[in-house]
Amino acid sequence: MNAKQHIAQLVEQALAAAFPEAQGLPAAAEIEGFLEVPPDRAMGDFAFPCFRLSKALRKGPPMIAQAVLSALCADEWTRAEVAGGYLNFFLNQEKYAVSLLGQIDENFGRSSDGEGKTVCLDYSSINIAKRFHIGHLSTTMIGHSLKRIYEYLGWRAIGINHLGDWGTQFGKMICAYKRWGDREEVEKGGVDAMTALYVRFHQEAEKDPALEDEGRAWFKKIEDGDPEAVEIFNWFKAVTLKDAERVYDKLGVHFDYYTGESFYNDKMGRVIDELTEKGLLTESDGAKVVDLSEDNMPPCLILKRDGATLYATRDIAAALYRKDTFNFDKCLYVVAYQQDLHFRQWFRVVEKMGYEWAKDQLVHVAFGMVSFEGESLSTRKGHVIYLDELLDRAVEKALAIIEQKSPNLENKEEVARQVGIGAVIYADLSNNRIKDIDFWWDRALNFDGETGPYVQYTHARCCSLLRKAADAGIAPDAGDGSALADEEARALLALLGRFPEVVKEAADKYEPSMITRYVTQLAGAYNKYYYEHRILDEDAAASAARVRMTQAVRDVIRRGLYLVGIEAPERM
Ligand code: ARG
Repeated sequence: MNAKQHIAQLVEQALAAAFPEAQGLPAAAEIEGFLEVPPDRAMGDFAFPCFRLSKALRKGPPMIAQAVLSALCADEWTRAEVAGGYLNFFLNQEKYAVSLLGQIDENFGRSSDGEGKTVCLDYSSINIAKRFHIGHLSTTMIGHSLKRIYEYLGWRAIGINHLGDWGTQFGKMICAYKRWGDREEVEKGGVDAMTALYVRFHQEAEKDPALEDEGRAWFKKIEDGDPEAVEIFNWFKAVTLKDAERVYDKLGVHFDYYTGESFYNDKMGRVIDELTEKGLLTESDGAKVVDLSEDNMPPCLILKRDGATLYATRDIAAALYRKDTFNFDKCLYVVAYQQDLHFRQWFRVVEKMGYEWAKDQLVHVAFGMVSFEGESLSTRKGHVIYLDELLDRAVEKALAIIEQKSPNLENKEEVARQVGIGAVIYADLSNNRIKDIDFWWDRALNFDGETGPYVQYTHARCCSLLRKAADAGIAPDAGDGSALADEEARALLALLGRFPEVVKEAADKYEPSMITRYVTQLAGAYNKYYYEHRILDEDAAASAARVRMTQAVRDVIRRGLYLVGIEAPERM
């Protein structure tokens, strides 16, 4: 429990004692929200504004403040004073420091709140026969981070890669492969070789439109389960996944399931049947749609004129399947905001089918676009930045910086890998997800700015101090807290105490950036402390206390970085 929660609890108890007859008094969680931080520290660390209750209690705020104060249980680390309609709380900083540091280890903030609950996360969801470009970075890293955050809060989290592995383009690719392709070439060239085949198909089809029919026929064969077509198609998939796996390994990302669009081929009947039974399907130009005009949305396309299912149909089938299979409490879709309408439409369709849970359990976790050094990424203009190349460049650049800054570092390559990849992930997860991101090398790799390397460096600094302390025989020990009562320590401890709340809020808002920003602030507060105070001092007790605080900072930074998917090297 942090100081704020502790005070809220004291107020809750005092209110109940002071006004035993009153109805509807706020509970601790609500009181916590009322607590303010006074503009001037002389007025206390927290203030409880009593006017919030004057209507319910039909009393003036100063009277309420006085009554609460009289009923307040004496407590070893808080003191309170009435100031007008406020009850001001003063923390005993020393006692607070000891109590807080007593709770911090590498599992600080872990909780069992989510026990018994399941979250499905649909993220990354790349397309077969396409290369992983930096447009897929955000979905991959936001999803990966949310999975770790939910797990930390006790949920069962299921990571699903909803591969884009269905569509007529795969028929065209098989057609191209059969005509001009070579197994070994594709095996070696991977996705690039497949893309080349696809490009060739379109060039040739301009001269020979009959190819389009041939492509369609091949797709029909995949649909009908023709062994040759299915074999080639599955092989395309395997080749793509092998390429993607390289990127996932670099990023440290793993999935529980690779159940893509084609996985639902045999699960579409149920969707169509239910929609039909419930009278939700209407005809439009020969296609079957669900009318959503009541909801001010265009109709949701379910079946094409030729009877083929669509992206939305497959998403509906997948949601029903996941509900049946995993019985999720939440299903998150980490997908670019461009698909906002798509998700609103089919979420609504599922609700109209009578599945109430669609309303609050299906969530589109949308995010903005990534551009690269001021230029947007469009495949058409040939401005594609491939993720594996970007990651390799980041590692190279990090290595160059490390060679310069710490030429004597052991295993420089390994550290460069952690720093380079961390810099890219940090850049991706440092702002509210809905904001567009512009990626710049010198910004991402700056060791002094708000960057991954800066936070990692602070973590390594803590580790180095802890090593020195161990060598000098100083064991971490907060003692009586008297060495941790200065301004910088106060700021640092206040931040440390907030970590559990930050993790919860990041989960509630599906916003890993809250953790990224938090660890950056924490790193800043620690560095400030570090410059103002000698950690390893002549005074043994003071050193031990500062070392203990350093250890807590290391644990929290490391955990925070882990939760956003960034590694924390111990030496840099
Ligand atoms: N494959 C799609 C794309 O790259 C994203 C799929 C997202 N997930 C979903 N269930 N629709 O645009």
